[in-house]
Amino acid sequence: MASSAAPARPPFPEFPRDFLWGVSTSAHQIEGAADERGASVWDAFTAVPGNVKDGSTAAVACDHYHRYREDVALVRDLGVDAYRFSVSWPRVLPTGAGAVNPAGLDFYDRLVDELCAAGVRPVPTLFHWDTPLVVQQAGGWLNRRTAEKFAEYAAVVAARIGDRVTKWITLNEPAEHTLLGHALGQHAPGERLLFDALPAAHHQLLAHGLAVRALRAAGARDIGIANSHGPTWPASGAEDDTAAADFYDLLLNRLFADPLLLGAYPEGIGELMPSRDLAADLKVISEPLDWYGINFYQPTKVGAPLPEGTAAEFAGVTLPPELPFSPRPIDGYPVTAFGWPVVPDALPELLAVFRDRYGDRLPPLVITENGCSYDGLDDQDRIAYLDGHLRALHGALESGADVRGYFVWSLIDNFEWAEGYRQRFGLVHVDHATQVRTPKASYHWLRETLRARRP
Ligand code: NOJ
Repeated sequence: MASSAAPARPPFPEFPRDFLWGVSTSAHQIEGAADERGASVWDAFTAVPGNVKDGSTAAVACDHYHRYREDVALVRDLGVDAYRFSVSWPRVLPTGAGAVNPAGLDFYDRLVDELCAAGVRPVPTLFHWDTPLVVQQAGGWLNRRTAEKFAEYAAVVAARIGDRVTKWITLNEPAEHTLLGHALGQHAPGERLLFDALPAAHHQLLAHGLAVRALRAAGARDIGIANSHGPTWPASGAEDDTAAADFYDLLLNRLFADPLLLGAYPEGIGELMPSRDLAADLKVISEPLDWYGINFYQPTKVGAPLPEGTAAEFAGVTLPPELPFSPRPIDGYPVTAFGWPVVPDALPELLAVFRDRYGDRLPPLVITENGCSYDGLDDQDRIAYLDGHLRALHGALESGADVRGYFVWSLIDNFEWAEGYRQRFGLVHVDHATQVRTPKASYHWLRETLRARRP
C-alpha cells in the first residue's frame, strides 16, 4: 500500500547481517483480560477519574491475551527476527509472590511456542510497570522486600519458558517509572514524592540485579535491561541553565546507567538511598550484563527554573515549581502527534555520550524502543521517523558504536498509559471498538525494507 505521496529516498543503508530487528509491546498496554489476572497498580490508577486523559482503562486493551496468534502472525509476516513483549507479574503471581496462576503462566508458554513456531525470537521483559496491587499495598517499590519478591517471580518465569527464551530483559524504564509514577504522580502508582521517590529507583535497580542472578541461576543467558535515555540540551550557555540541565541529566540518565555500568551512583546520590550496605547493593546492581538496552525517543532541552508563577511543562505534564530545572520546548524540528520533537541525530549523539562516559565498561547496546505517535493508516510521518532514525543509527555504527539490534515501539496501537488510546504508536492500526488490526503504510515499508536486506 505504498502511498503516491511517499518521497523518493536514497537506498537504505546496509546493516550487519546479524543485526537483530524486532518490534516491542508490553503486557498492560495490549493484553487486556484484566479479570483473568491479579490486579496491578495500573488497574487502581486508571479507576480514578482524571488520571487517564481519555477516561479509558486497559481492562480489554488490544485483547492480545485472546488474540495473540493473530498478533504473532503480524510479527512473522513483518519479517523481523525478534519480538519484545512483557510478562505481567500479576498474571503469573496474582498477589506478587506465592501461589502461581497456572492459566497465566500457560499463556506465556503458548505465546513463546507460537513465536518459536513462527521463527521469531521471544524477548521477554519481566517488568513493564504493572506491579501487583498486593505488592503495592505492602509498600511497592519503596519497600526493599519488593526487590526480593521480584527475583522470586523472575525464577518462576525462567523455570517455565527459559528453555526457549534466549534473550531476556529485566526491567523497562525504571527512570520513567520513578519519575512519572513515584515523583510526579502522572503514572501508577500515582505517588507525588518528588525527591523522596529515590528509594523506588534504588529498589528497582536492586530488583534488576537480583533478577539477573536468579535468571543466571536458572541457566538463562543474554540478559539486558531497557532504560530510557536521551541527550539533555541546556537551554543556553548561562551557568544556571547548564547546571539545571546537568542535574536533569543526572536524574534521567546517570542515576540509572552509572550504578548498572560503573557500580556507583553519581556523586551525592548514594547517600540519599535507603541501604544499610550500599556497597553490597551496588555489587548486586552492577552484576555484569550481556547487553544494555536503550529506549530512545527524543532529546530534552532543560533550563533553570522559570520565574515564580510560570508553570514548566514536560510531556504534557505541569511540573511542580520546586524542581530545580525546567524542560523547555525544542523548536525547529517536526513534532509527532504527541508533540515530541523528531531529532534523529540525537540518537548518535546519545551513543557518543555513552561511549565517552562508560568506555570499556559498556556492553553491546540494543535499541529496545524507538518509535512515534501519529494518526492514520497512510503514516508517512512514521516512515520518515523510522527511516531517519535508522539512517542516523547506521551512521553511528560506521563511527564505531556497538549496537546489535533495533526494536520499533510498537507492533500495534495500544494503551499509551496516561494518554489512554489517544496516542497511536503502532505499525498496525487497531480499531479499539472492533479489535480489527490493519497494517499501516509503515508496516509495509518496514517489511519491504527488511525483505530487501535478505538474500
Ligand atoms: C516507553 C515505554 O516503555 C512504553 O511503554 C511507551 O508506550 C513508550 N515509551 C511510548 O511512550
